[in-house]
Amino acid sequence: MTVKLEQFDDNDSLLSAFSQQLASLLKQAINTKGFANIAVSGGSTPKPLFQALSKISLPWSKVNVTLADERWVDASHEASNERLVRENLLINEAAAANFVSLTTADENAEDAEAAISSRLAALNLPFDVIILGMGEDGHTASLFPCSAQLEEGFNLKRKELVIATEPTTAPHQRMSLTLASIIASNNVFLHITGEKKKKVFEDALANHSALEKPIKAVCDACELKLVWAP
Ligand code: 6PG
Repeated sequence: MTVKLEQFDDNDSLLSAFSQQLASLLKQAINTKGFANIAVSGGSTPKPLFQALSKISLPWSKVNVTLADERWVDASHEASNERLVRENLLINEAAAANFVSLTTADENAEDAEAAISSRLAALNLPFDVIILGMGEDGHTASLFPCSAQLEEGFNLKRKELVIATEPTTAPHQRMSLTLASIIASNNVFLHITGEKKKKVFEDALANHSALEKPIKAVCDACELKLVWAP
């Protein structure tokens, strides 16, 4: 288990350093192979990061942006992570990026697993960068400790790159990257802020199993860069 801590005094310093770091990783990928793949998370934490990143000049038309997870709602719904990304990241300089959605018109997320998995496979993975978030229950992406699909989400031999999950402690069905898709990424970041989440993270690593605190599964399987500010 390796956790590399990138700690900042305040959120403004985090935002400026982290957005520049992300931009330089994307630029490096574009220089090496002609394109870059990034998966970002939803929730409230990344919104100011998206806005900062959107203003950085990059060959954005060569960047594929998708999500670590999505809530199974229409893209116009206020809970939609796609909407969050469209409104806060795919603007300014980054308006030229190519967005890959994790939803379909299927009523049940489960029916869309194969289609979305192929959509992602067409990007020529791995992701150059994935930015994870974490909930106070230790979930990351939409790998929730309470969901019946968690073990399958951890199954490293699973064919599909995504899994439909149904949290019992949070609203909406979800479509989530699997653990295998997450840990295959070249750079895995966990972006959290505040003392409370830092404690949750440390407690997850010290005192819990991966099934109890899914973020631990990621730490166990790859080098995680923890980006944190109070
Ligand atoms: C989602 C997420 C989820 C999120 C955490 C943290 O769509 O729900 O991608 O994994 O990152 O729940 O969310 P906050 O930043 O809102 O605390």
